[in-house]
Amino acid sequence: MIVLGIETSCDETAAAIVTDAREIRADVVLSQLDDHTPYGGVVPEIAARAHLEHLDGLIRRAMAEAGIGFGDLDAVAATGGPGLIGGVIVGVMTAKAIAAARNLPFVAVNHLEGHALTARLTDDVAFPYLLLLVSGGHCQLLAVEGVGRYRRLGTTIDDAVGEAFDKTAKLLGLGYPGGPLVEKAAARATNPARFELPRPMLGRPGCDFSFSGLKTAVRRHVEELGGVLTDADRDDLAAAFQATVAEVLADRCARAIRRFKEDHPQGGALVVAGGVAANKAIRSRLATLAEKQRMPFVAPPLRLCTDNAAMIAWAGIERFRLGESDPLNFAPRPRWPLDPSAAPVIGRAGVGAGVKA
Ligand code: KG4
Ligand code: ZN
Repeated sequence: MIVLGIETSCDETAAAIVTDAREIRADVVLSQLDDHTPYGGVVPEIAARAHLEHLDGLIRRAMAEAGIGFGDLDAVAATGGPGLIGGVIVGVMTAKAIAAARNLPFVAVNHLEGHALTARLTDDVAFPYLLLLVSGGHCQLLAVEGVGRYRRLGTTIDDAVGEAFDKTAKLLGLGYPGGPLVEKAAARATNPARFELPRPMLGRPGCDFSFSGLKTAVRRHVEELGGVLTDADRDDLAAAFQATVAEVLADRCARAIRRFKEDHPQGGALVVAGGVAANKAIRSRLATLAEKQRMPFVAPPLRLCTDNAAMIAWAGIERFRLGESDPLNFAPRPRWPLDPSAAPVIGRAGVGAGVKA
């Protein structure tokens, strides 16, 4: 089975060709970074227009790299949400048009499901597994029990973790996108223990997260330094922030592991996914935790942690081979929780979010 995947939910335009033998035949990603950098964040209308401008060319490139034509495809999968609606509409319409013209099945993929199932594309991980999904719009712990079967164990009550990285980067004058820049600054730190930051939710019952207090604490340090940071100040603060986030994530994961093992005595892997999973300090902290808990640890290669279309094609394959596809009147969904039974969270990362997934 060969599937074309399309991703347009945020600021990456992406197309990929993936087979059900877990082979990525092509995976092209066009970052719109330069379009949004002057604004310090993603501008929805600029993103939508850039997707419209580039998507057809990217699809053509992916097909050429895979050495196939439309006639070789078995299905077309596109991100159907959650995300910036203008971009999602561009991707969904393009996929529908190809599906209609070629009489192919169309699969609308939940972007979060794309991240959630990536470890099965890269490492053939078996169900069930415990997933820490850490991206620009989300921070969730989920028991992944099957395709379409996600049970949320915890979520953020305020900011998403990637959002916290991005805002901290802004406070430190590092620019956008924040995550990779904070990681680089932290690696240069000469005195990473210099700044004390609060560890929100550490040791609290449950598996929820909170990051807004951490961001406020970083701001306070910046103000105490008179608002003007030396390179050393910036690097040390970035290191303190990153270490704190890693510790909080590990603490919440440790709790979730206990619950996961109660429900699944046969065990399963600890999997991390989403853009923040590209962070090496966080990966290594989680790897240590998993080792202590005697759980296999799976983190996809960096390129498949951040937004891409291979994960969308793969999630499409997972659903399609279970006999699922979507009608051509599918309506794009700006919000689309993975576990609809979980209570909505009041706050940016919950009900009001949908900005980044
Ligand atoms: O999954 P993703 O590519 O986009 C969605 O949000 O769906 O995640 C993007 C987020 C951004 O907030 C970015 O700053 C963060 O992931 N990120 C990182 C790193 N690379 C990307 N955060 C920390 N360390 C990194 N190396
Ligand atoms: Zn994402």
